[in-house]
Amino acid sequence: MSKEDIYILGVESSCDDTAAAILKNDEVLSNCIANQEIHKKYGGVVPELASRAHLSNIIPVVNQALADAKVKPEMLSAIAFTKGPGLIGSLLVGTEFSKALGLSLNIPVIEVNHMQAHILVHYIKSDKKKPDFPFLGVTVSGGHTQFVIVEDYLRMKIIGETLDDAIGEAFDKCGKIIGLDYPAGPEIDKLAKEGNANKFDFPIPKVEGFNISYSGTKTAFMNFINNSIQKDADFIQNNKNDICASIQKNLIENLISKIEYASKIKSINRIVIGGGVSANSFLKDSLELKSKDNNWEVFIPPLSYTTDNAAMIGIAGYLKYISGLFSNYNTIASPRLAFK
Ligand code: KG4
Ligand code: ZN
Repeated sequence: MSKEDIYILGVESSCDDTAAAILKNDEVLSNCIANQEIHKKYGGVVPELASRAHLSNIIPVVNQALADAKVKPEMLSAIAFTKGPGLIGSLLVGTEFSKALGLSLNIPVIEVNHMQAHILVHYIKSDKKKPDFPFLGVTVSGGHTQFVIVEDYLRMKIIGETLDDAIGEAFDKCGKIIGLDYPAGPEIDKLAKEGNANKFDFPIPKVEGFNISYSGTKTAFMNFINNSIQKDADFIQNNKNDICASIQKNLIENLISKIEYASKIKSINRIVIGGGVSANSFLKDSLELKSKDNNWEVFIPPLSYTTDNAAMIGIAGYLKYISGLFSNYNTIASPRLAFK
């Protein structure tokens, strides 16, 4: 351990995953996560149950991250935690836990914006090239769909976002309509691989400028499924793969056309994706194809850093640490935290 090395504990608890990671500078030493299975049977995250599960998971997960990294609490330089956006009860657990641990160890705490962290995850040490600035950041998760101009690690400006549902939410809600478990995104991705994406057509809501919309597609999808079931009770069962491939194509093409528009208007050819939906294989394939047509340089995070994780909170914390951006101990969780 060199004297200059910075050890960060990252803590993430914004939704239904309790996660902790240890970073030595920009290198991830451990990355632990406790998923909350309880929400599956309700078809979505139940905030009250999520907060309770965070309370019982947080100490074991942090202990596991320290043990995996072979780092003792006294070695930590700072604790980075998700201040928001997210569910208030969930955020409170990680925020207050981090402040209490920071106080007891007498080390600084660093608040992190969850959506910025989804973008900054690309700066974790690896063999891969890191995105140069500026770039168009695209965050695609269960709670957000944002188009962000990123000038520097912490200089980000949202130029557009969803007017209603997030893309991950649209995946999850459409999946629920055809009886898939929450979160349905990964299952739709899997089932779509065996399906015909051109079998069924759904509308793409028209939205001016850099904003995007998904709720009209979801409603059209619901009506289509209900009508089809009336004609054939086994419609879903007999067409599951084609339904998944078709709705997936629609949701992703809507996103890609907005990326193309934003890239053209802003004259930015570097596209950096972050958030749970960046795990989607059709999105990755489509971006690869489009990058050839548009001369884009596309960055997609490794699979383990796509959905919520604490390594991304740790790297954001490290980048803030080296800029001296620490938080007061009286900082509080903020469910609608905006970019600064
Ligand atoms: O970033 P994330 O873990 O949590 C939020 O911050 O919301 O994103 C979760 C979202 C869920 O909606 C989930 O269905 C979606 O990411 N997701 C996917 C895939 N893997 C996760 N959506 C489509 N295809 C996937 N392979
Ligand atoms: Zn997220």
